[in-house]
Amino acid sequence: MDVDGAPSTPGKWKMDKPLHHHRHPRLLLHRWHLHSTLSKLAFWSLFALALFLAFFLLSPRPHASSASSGGRRSLGMAPWGGPAWEKRVRLSARVRRQPGGKSVLVTGAAGFVGMHVAAALKRRGDGVLGLDNFNGYYEPSLKRARQALLERAGVFVVEGDINDGPLLRKLFDVVPFTHIVHLAAQAGVRHALEDPASYVHSNVAGLVSVLEAAKSADPQPAVVWASSSSVYGLNSHVPFSEADRTDRPASLYAATKKAGEEIAHVYNHIYGLAITGLRFFTVYGPWGRPDMAYFFFTRDILRGKSISIFEGPDHATVARDFTYIDDIVKGCVAAVDHAGKSTGSGGKKRGPAPLRIYNLGNTSPVPVADLVSILEQLLKAKAVKKFVKMPRNGDVPFTHANITLAQKELGYHPKTGLQTGLKKFIRWYLDYYTSSLSKNGSRGRSMSS
Ligand SMILES: NC(=O)c1ccc[n+]([C@@H]2O[C@H](COP(=O)([O-])OP(=O)(O)OC[C@H]3O[C@@H](n4cnc5c(N)ncnc54)[C@H](O)[C@@H]3O)[C@@H](O)[C@H]2O)c1
Repeated sequence: MDVDGAPSTPGKWKMDKPLHHHRHPRLLLHRWHLHSTLSKLAFWSLFALALFLAFFLLSPRPHASSASSGGRRSLGMAPWGGPAWEKRVRLSARVRRQPGGKSVLVTGAAGFVGMHVAAALKRRGDGVLGLDNFNGYYEPSLKRARQALLERAGVFVVEGDINDGPLLRKLFDVVPFTHIVHLAAQAGVRHALEDPASYVHSNVAGLVSVLEAAKSADPQPAVVWASSSSVYGLNSHVPFSEADRTDRPASLYAATKKAGEEIAHVYNHIYGLAITGLRFFTVYGPWGRPDMAYFFFTRDILRGKSISIFEGPDHATVARDFTYIDDIVKGCVAAVDHAGKSTGSGGKKRGPAPLRIYNLGNTSPVPVADLVSILEQLLKAKAVKKFVKMPRNGDVPFTHANITLAQKELGYHPKTGLQTGLKKFIRWYLDYYTSSLSKNGSRGRSMSS
């Protein structure tokens, strides 16, 4: 038998070429050892690979629940649970205004609108607890700065994901919230082209997770949540009224907000949750979002960088119904006060509960070119403008709110014009970025991060 050609592990290893010229017994022994070593090596490599795969597949993934770990989270999220943590949660949610004080869970509290709403509720004596996952969609340092501001006002912002069911249940175990103001979401229409899954995660699955926690809580809270003017999509009937069509979204963001409105209907219908949806129209102001045009136009004008101003077909003007943050906050607080009561308990509906939707806008659309002129005047700098055709990436040519319903039912009356609101924004912007520059000695908190 020609042992040189035989595999050391029959059926598992085969030489490519027979080696008939190595016939000396020592050489044969040497080859035998070599084959044996190689196959052992192959076996252990496979074993190590299998171990690695098993470890990878069985390790908890981000957003997976952590019920088995007694409420403690890992994977970069701050841990939650334990007596000291529960004490902070209770203290933050404690109502100081009687009668009529509310205890409110504000999701997305480290976000632009969330921070302002949480602070406003706290100021008037409501108990407020924040929740935010501090994701990296835009500079997390800005979210941390908002968190620090809320901390100083007595609002604890729990770090966690709205999809974390055990965390939400724990929060409701510790505090019988009367209201949820649900503002956590993946915002921005253009980012959906790059990361569509984040919209489904936060705006669809996340909303369901929040409503699940709300419907199972006893007592059930009333829910106020942010939809968006983007649900009007390609609607051309102006001004946009709540009765208009919303079945032609122009972006995935809009589609997830529209889905949210339908999901809200289900939880109201089956479980008796009182739910108010608010369609915000282009909110701007101090502590705003760096991905929004007024914000990055300011940055680029100051840096002498060119800015792109979109135009519709035939050079048509693109216009937005810019709404100042303080007006939006008043609308949100009014929505909390008019939310009505959820009627379910033990996961069952006990009677009809309110289900509402309101536009919160400013009712006076401004062409984006005019926005730029105001910024130039306030910044005392000339913008380098490039007029470009609006790409089909989710944006719509104009938005214009009809706010009659919110006026009538919430007493919503926006007061701040664009010139005044932008002045306040610019003052904040210069202060925030100048002080962060001097603190860090670099552009550490700038928008390029
Ligand atoms: N700002 C606007 O012009 C505008 C317009 C229409 C609708 N809205 C809606 O208003 C709400 C607030 O918007 P904003 O401008 O403050 O946005 P934002 O991005 O500043 O705030 C949202 C916050 O939610 C957090 N978040 C996102 N996904 C989360 C998750 N899965 N779990 C926990 N936290 C999560 C983010 O970290 C962020 O801090 C959003 O629902 C948004 O869709 C805003």
